[in-house]
Amino acid sequence: MSDSYKLIFEHNKKWVEAKIATNPDYFHELAKTQHPEYLYIGCSDSRVTAEDMMGAQPGDVFVHRNIANVINTLDMSSTAVIQYAVEHLKVKHIIVCGHYNCGGVKAAMTSQDLGLLNPWLRNIRDVYRLHQTELDAIGEEGKRYDRLVELNVQEQCINVIKMACVQERYILEEQPVVHGWVFDLRTGKIIDLEIDFENILKDIQKIYNLTDSDWVMSRKK
Ligand code: CO
Repeated sequence: MSDSYKLIFEHNKKWVEAKIATNPDYFHELAKTQHPEYLYIGCSDSRVTAEDMMGAQPGDVFVHRNIANVINTLDMSSTAVIQYAVEHLKVKHIIVCGHYNCGGVKAAMTSQDLGLLNPWLRNIRDVYRLHQTELDAIGEEGKRYDRLVELNVQEQCINVIKMACVQERYILEEQPVVHGWVFDLRTGKIIDLEIDFENILKDIQKIYNLTDSDWVMSRKK
């Protein structure tokens, strides 16, 4: 077995010791329950860690990661995570975080057959089609690539907002709020795209309105 693999368990042992050194009850308390305020949906890319870059601790963030941070209504995994986070954990914020230099987004910009990945990356090609005029007008390929990363985040935020559980809970409690971020691998900084959540929600409800506000409010009583 490789030494680097064995190292993981040594690191784990040190991590446990460090946690217990600051609080002997650390794991006893951690095991009780979780109340994360954040749902983080990001890319599986090994360079973009959720908790580490946010300075978050165990228990702070509920996490879902997949290739190119895609939310698709047919994907049971991501939609189940969102539903659980919204209805049971009652997270206050949902973050969709993309990143520059995203291999998934890059692959969706190129003409190649990637087998099983084709239907997944089709979601990003759909984002390109929605914003084709803007993207095609960007001459420099690197800038076009960066912009598609940002637009993919924006569209995946919209896919989150389309979900009935998100709309319903927002009517009741004015949360969760959906945020779009891009992690810049070149600087280590998180960029908040400052998507206009309230207005997107209003626009979306013209077409994707899955909740009757009066009915939702009547259930609250
Ligand atoms: Co990526």
